[in-house]
Amino acid sequence: MQTHPVTADRPQHAMTLLAQLTDLHIREPGQLAYGRVDTAEGLVQAIASISRLPQRPDALVITGDLTDFGREPEYAHLARLLEPLGDMPIHLLPGNHDERDPLRRSFPRHGYLGNGEFIQYSVPVGSLQLIALDTVTPRSPMGNLCSKRLDWLEAELSSQGERPVVIAMHHPPFQTLIGGMDHYGLQTGARELEAIVARHPNVERIICGHMHRSIQVRFGGTIASTIPSPAHQINLDLSPDAPLMWTLEPPAYALHALPDGGRMVTHMAACGAFDGPHPFR
Ligand SMILES: [Fe+2]
Repeated sequence: MQTHPVTADRPQHAMTLLAQLTDLHIREPGQLAYGRVDTAEGLVQAIASISRLPQRPDALVITGDLTDFGREPEYAHLARLLEPLGDMPIHLLPGNHDERDPLRRSFPRHGYLGNGEFIQYSVPVGSLQLIALDTVTPRSPMGNLCSKRLDWLEAELSSQGERPVVIAMHHPPFQTLIGGMDHYGLQTGARELEAIVARHPNVERIICGHMHRSIQVRFGGTIASTIPSPAHQINLDLSPDAPLMWTLEPPAYALHALPDGGRMVTHMAACGAFDGPHPFR
């Protein structure tokens, strides 16, 4: 955690801060998603909100659906929109709206994206290890975790010993009860993933996207969650045949904080500028 100039004279917790954004759905400049949603402006507001935090995050992870159609001009637009974050390390992972090769070509300095069959990686962020899983199935909105991807995870977790781990992935490995989205959820590998995670109690969180909502579930002895998008959200309707609808409920991001020697604390924060803060007296 770097100390922001404004708080340089105030005591700071010793901790690691990981910001999470998801489901940006960036389009080419001037284009709106669904003809209505200015996803670029959503990201601008989210980055401004993160930049106003009194404590600067050690890194930002973006859990997929970086763009709307996986096209290079969309990734180029995304790269420009991320520039205000300066030298903050940014870790990208693909969602079902992304395309692996255009993503890699557009972020040549993001060496962790690799050139293998999947975009899976393990990087240190302060005192924790961020492990990204690739749930993408090309040309499908649905997700999958095959044995190749899960075997890599098991080996990677085993190499971490007791170091705190956050697993990031696009499709959540759990039922959300939003029927339309569960239909497009993770088709294979959830049970196997849960068994692996249950063998590694140092997994502090499994953080996901895809759902455009804030959802938390107990999973393999840890907490698995999804967060809202900085753009549009999925309508909250728990009927099994709920039609897939989007809304403009307030956008948000997550701040995952790991105090040295403590347990991970996750804060959900709204994107945007609001009145306050005000003193109580
Ligand atoms: Fe999405």
